[in-house]
Amino acid sequence: MNAPFNARAASLRDPFTAFVCDDATADLLRPVAVEHGWSPEKVNKGGLRNAVQTLSVSASPSILFVDLSESGDPLSDINALAEVCEPGTVVIAAGQVNDVRLYRDLVASGIQDYLLKPFTADQLRDAFANAQMIISGPRVTETAAERPNVTAAVIGVRGGVGASTIASSLAWLMGDKAGRSTALLDLDVHFGTGALALDLEPGRGLTDAIENPSRIDGLFIERAMVRANDRLSVLSAEAPLNQWILTDGSAFFQLQEEIRHAFEGTVIDMPRNMVVQFPHLVTDVNVVIVVVDFTLAATRDAIRVLSWLKANAGQAKVIVAANKVVPGIQEVSRKDFEHSIERKVDILLPSDSKAAMQAAKLGQPLAKAAKTSKLSQPLNQLLALALEQAAAAEEAGGKPAGGSLLGKLGNFKSLVAKKPKATVAQTA
Ligand SMILES: Nc1ncnc2c1ncn2[C@@H]1O[C@H](COP(=O)(O)OP(=O)(O)OP(=O)(O)O)[C@@H](O)[C@H]1O
Ligand SMILES: [Mg+2]
Repeated sequence: MNAPFNARAASLRDPFTAFVCDDATADLLRPVAVEHGWSPEKVNKGGLRNAVQTLSVSASPSILFVDLSESGDPLSDINALAEVCEPGTVVIAAGQVNDVRLYRDLVASGIQDYLLKPFTADQLRDAFANAQMIISGPRVTETAAERPNVTAAVIGVRGGVGASTIASSLAWLMGDKAGRSTALLDLDVHFGTGALALDLEPGRGLTDAIENPSRIDGLFIERAMVRANDRLSVLSAEAPLNQWILTDGSAFFQLQEEIRHAFEGTVIDMPRNMVVQFPHLVTDVNVVIVVVDFTLAATRDAIRVLSWLKANAGQAKVIVAANKVVPGIQEVSRKDFEHSIERKVDILLPSDSKAAMQAAKLGQPLAKAAKTSKLSQPLNQLLALALEQAAAAEEAGGKPAGGSLLGKLGNFKSLVAKKPKATVAQTA
């Protein structure tokens, strides 16, 4: 039952057969089977006993539903079933015994799922969806979490600085270049571009998660994440604009948790208003990439965001990335910017409108579409730095650093005072 799946053999099988013990279960099963395109006649009576007899003389189906209600010793009967059941069959069992030890033993003997009677049509649909996922391909959880997860949050200090562009590129590079199974979690619930940037439909996963945080578990993640390629999946939303997001943030936190277990890399596109509302969203990230541009407004807000991060994400390493840099045409020079924020800018990403437009047209992350652009090298540098800093953050165990916000805002004020009103252009 739990032997490696053979797709060719499976194509010759019945997709589904059930052996149930009572009419109520048969009546529940038949319409759900029909929904899946399976014949209602495949719902047989006779429970496990009949299943063993029938399968000893006929081919096993792809999905086998078996009712254990009349079985005196479910575990040994399941083992009898395993003797006659061909490898690759996904078995869903149902029964009346509510005992976690039995459940564990059944799972250990190759049962995919155990539904406690009475169960609902929705529970059944979930079990079938899971079974179909197993049949159709490798599961996220099977390939994932070989290496400890690295979580990077990307926060733009102002709107439009390119935080989402950088988040999708970093996630793509983390999968493609660093070879990590990676999840892009786009927390811009109304206006997110995580899926759009990868030419995907966002699906309902993120909205469902917000509406029902209690449903978020490994299986939920497996179903809700939309795959961009073998190494990159995305969770994003385009929530209707008349729909206020009612959440205390726990859904986002739980999503981070589950994604951490299922993937080797997480990149969170974290809108800055989200962190203001839900500061706990940054308490477990390893690296925060603060995206800025060289403007006065971004200077002020970089100071505030960096100071906020010190207070709220002391465990994280911070990388400052300046985007859309046009040497010689900046409101604030790099030198003045660095003086104001009292630290260096780590990565400079030049402005390249052509590459950005090309990426949007192709529905590809900038890092993929702009391999020959001047953005390619700094984006790769950002990936390397993010992975390096994540390792350093892990090692340090996260020690918050000091610093005074007032002092830094003082530097900013002097920068504004020093600025000649007529000239805004300075060298970056
Ligand atoms: N280095 C760059 N050169 C040129 N254009 C860029 C660059 N980086 C991003 N852009 C473009 O800037 C625009 C805004 O980018 P993006 O949506 O990533 O910003 P954001 O900070 O996430 O915005 P929002 O505040 O709406 O979330 C996009 O059209 C994007 O293609
Ligand atoms: Mg954005």
